[in-house]
Amino acid sequence: MYNSKISGLGMYVPENVVTNEDLSKIMDTSNEWIIERTGIKERRHIKKGDGNTTATMGVEAAKIAMKRAGIEKNEIDLILFATLSPDYYFPGSGVLVQELLDIPTCPAMDIRNQCSGFIYAISTADQYVKSGMYKNILVIGSENHSGGLDMTSRGRGVSVIFGDGAGAAVVSREEDLTKGILSSHLHSEGKYAEELALISPSTNRWVPEIIDSNDSEDISYYPNMNGQLVFKNAVVRFSEVIMEGLKHNNLSPDQIDMLIPHQANLRISQFVQKRFGLSENQIHNNIQKYGNTTAGSIPIALTEAWQEGKIKEGDIVVLAAFGSGFTWGSTIIRW
Ligand code: UT7
Repeated sequence: MYNSKISGLGMYVPENVVTNEDLSKIMDTSNEWIIERTGIKERRHIKKGDGNTTATMGVEAAKIAMKRAGIEKNEIDLILFATLSPDYYFPGSGVLVQELLDIPTCPAMDIRNQCSGFIYAISTADQYVKSGMYKNILVIGSENHSGGLDMTSRGRGVSVIFGDGAGAAVVSREEDLTKGILSSHLHSEGKYAEELALISPSTNRWVPEIIDSNDSEDISYYPNMNGQLVFKNAVVRFSEVIMEGLKHNNLSPDQIDMLIPHQANLRISQFVQKRFGLSENQIHNNIQKYGNTTAGSIPIALTEAWQEGKIKEGDIVVLAAFGSGFTWGSTIIRW
């Protein structure tokens, strides 16, 4: 029997800072609206020609995580890459990381679960390590949203929220069964698939069909979101799935040392914080600086919280996410 633990963390965001003021120059929005409704002050966007892609950002985060874990590239047994914005339609970005890190024929798998992608990936890594099959797994969450957003007033309800960036964790074998990843809890509800989705291009609507229609009003190739419905479901599901994880491990909310919620909206995080009676020291938010980086958001926030010394050995750390699918999940860790 083995347990698994996070042995190293890393993050990477592009240098290019885009403020709310910058956005208000190109679309009908304002710094006040964005801060009041989301808490976001700025986000990072890849700049054309700066060399960043979903895979390369993941690699930069991974290099830091591997260094901190004290493992060499040839000790990585599996790459799990969570993203909704892979470099190519296919293959996934995991294989690009294998090539960029030069890990000979290491298996690589992409996880397509949007905002919950990192939780699903951590859960998958945990099972491979606990079964004894693999010792060290590189788990990456990375997104390049900026190039695919509708940066006009028409897309303002979505475009102001999302940012680019990557986070990574090395999940390693842990012999002490009282420590490490205790459990993950995963859910989905596909009836809401189109409430937060990017519909085209897809096998329902291939590129030739889009070109043939020659419709300048076609917005199916931009992400669309029923914001209020997503918000309402998010606050319920976040709370449920955190409680499910705590109960499973005989823990109570006051035993949470650090909650890392997916950075969807500061108001959602604050609702959950209040619901569980957590102080400012028991939650880490950074949506103010990076916006919503989807699969990147939890590993970026976790890395930052750890770097700032907010997570100590023995702490109960809770990760929780909700998003497109709908999918949601939580992971409970004794650090
Ligand atoms: O990570 C994946 C999960 N995603 C989420 O959890 C997101 C959940 N949803 C949300 O965070 C919020 O619903 C939003 C931040 C997306 C929107 O906030 P809201 O308070 O729900 O606003 P709303 O969509 O109800 O829109 C209110 C008004 C509308 O104008 P009218 O109809 O009242 O005149 C919008 O057209 O705000 C307008 N609006 C904007 N105004 C300025 C929408 N986007 C903008 C904008 N700037 N960027």
